[in-house]
Amino acid sequence: MDAKYLALFSALCLGLSQCAPVSDPTPSQISNTSYGPIPGESQLYSTYHGTAAPFPGNTTGAVLNTTSGPPGPDDLLFQNLLSAEWIIFSFYQQGVEAFNTTAFTDAGFPNTTYERIQQIRDNEAGHLRIFQDQISSNSIKPGRCQYEYPFQDDPVRFLALQTIIEVSSMAFLTGLELQAKLDVSRAALVAIAATESRHNTWALIDNWAAPPFAGPSDTVFPYANEILDFTNVWVVNGSCPAENPVFPTPRQNLPPIDVGANTTGIVPGSTLAFNFSDPVRQPSFTAGKDYYAVFFHGLYNISVPFDVQSRTVVIPPQIEPLGIIIAVLADQEGAPTRESVLAGPLILPESPAELAQIFA
Ligand SMILES: *[C@@H]1O[C@H](CO)[C@@H](O)[C@H](O)[C@H]1NC(C)=O
Ligand SMILES: *[C@@H]1O[C@H](CO)[C@@H](O)[C@H](O)[C@H]1NC(C)=O
Ligand SMILES: *[C@@H]1O[C@H](CO)[C@@H](O)[C@H](O)[C@H]1NC(C)=O
Ligand SMILES: *[C@@H]1O[C@H](CO)[C@@H](O)[C@H](O)[C@H]1NC(C)=O
Ligand SMILES: *[C@@H]1O[C@H](CO)[C@@H](O)[C@H](O)[C@H]1NC(C)=O
Ligand SMILES: *[C@@H]1O[C@H](CO)[C@@H](O)[C@H](O)[C@H]1NC(C)=O
Ligand SMILES: *[C@@H]1O[C@H](CO)[C@@H](O)[C@H](O)[C@H]1NC(C)=O
Ligand SMILES: *[C@@H]1O[C@H](CO)[C@@H](O)[C@H](O)[C@H]1NC(C)=O
Ligand SMILES: *[C@@H]1O[C@H](CO)[C@@H](O)[C@H](O)[C@H]1NC(C)=O
Repeated sequence: MDAKYLALFSALCLGLSQCAPVSDPTPSQISNTSYGPIPGESQLYSTYHGTAAPFPGNTTGAVLNTTSGPPGPDDLLFQNLLSAEWIIFSFYQQGVEAFNTTAFTDAGFPNTTYERIQQIRDNEAGHLRIFQDQISSNSIKPGRCQYEYPFQDDPVRFLALQTIIEVSSMAFLTGLELQAKLDVSRAALVAIAATESRHNTWALIDNWAAPPFAGPSDTVFPYANEILDFTNVWVVNGSCPAENPVFPTPRQNLPPIDVGANTTGIVPGSTLAFNFSDPVRQPSFTAGKDYYAVFFHGLYNISVPFDVQSRTVVIPPQIEPLGIIIAVLADQEGAPTRESVLAGPLILPESPAELAQIFA
């Protein structure tokens, strides 16, 4: 490059930090909880309004362990959660890149929507960093994969999916509480769940003018990894860093359930047809054996006998149509063990009703 242009380029770059090629932090740096912006201290994780992904969302690759020895008691839990967080963070990051303020106002949403999406994106970057910090240096910290979400540059679909993701996150965060070995991990999970709850409360009030509450309790689903596994649908096959552990670990890889034809609705009292939509992953039924559709809502579950011929059930009418209902196919009433779950989960968003219609 000509010296004159080099000087000009350098001068321009003084104001633009992106100009200089920045390399990824080393594993030792990432393992140092004092390295980089610190969640709860830096505004990067709250009010950064740039389009470029904030730290550590802009780093690539898995972060290798810098020490050897037994994993920390909750390393596996936070490895699973960090992989899930990459999916959630990237959803918001893609939204920040795809839309702007007018994209949302043109679609009839408040003029603060884009800013809020940026801020939630920032919070999620903070979660990436918090979960990295929770994984000991004896274990690998999973890195970013490539993701594809079904919002197709449509701001309405994006915001509907946003609400469903945030409301559903409560179910796996409460489930992960049951796996946590350390009290400090449980406290961290409650603090994260409360943050996701603020995200969905904002969305319900501002974007959907819907009741902000899910009744007296969000839905607890004990087999958190089954919900995490469901989010693999957004991960591009073969795109994850080779060093990433299998997500989630352990992975049952259950047949997914979709809402099938002949469904009259997804609210309590409606007829719901189960479609085992993956041609490869199908449940196998044994003649003469009993099967159940188990519906989780709030802290409880209700089982309904499942007819393997029609594959239709009536959603228990006594369930309050708020928050989410989670349905699974099980070979025991109440799906009392992880192994008794044969397919699913299917997440049914109840409120507002239009969320489900947008994805029907
Ligand atoms: C951790 O990072 C901080 C801030 O960059 C630095 O001052 C400190 O020396 C680092 N600690 C180690 C052990 O590298
Ligand atoms: C990542 O973003 C942070 C600010 O959020 C920036 O300081 C850092 O240089 C970026 N790193 C890379 C590798 O782009
Ligand atoms: C990382 O963990 C593996 C497996 O436990 C071990 O073999 C390796 O030595 C560790 N790496 C470092 C840098 O300690
Ligand atoms: C928002 O994006 C649209 C489409 O890319 C563009 O036409 C419009 O000028 C942008 N609005 C603002 C305020 O940047
Ligand atoms: C945003 O909308 C509010 C109320 O809907 C309005 O009072 C305010 O002026 C708007 N702000 C901008 C910057 O358009
Ligand atoms: C990803 O791989 C799974 C199984 O390996 C396959 O069923 C699925 O169709 C693939 N998805 C895409 C988008 O290629
Ligand atoms: C089940 O899902 C598959 C894949 O999406 C679809 O092709 C099929 O039409 C669905 N069947 C029913 C009965 O809903
Ligand atoms: C829908 O219900 C009708 C009447 O019960 C039945 O004949 C049909 O096979 C069902 N369709 C599917 C896809 O299950
Ligand atoms: C579902 O409810 C039944 C009855 O209260 C209970 O025995 C069972 O453990 C519950 N299932 C799960 C997975 O919590």
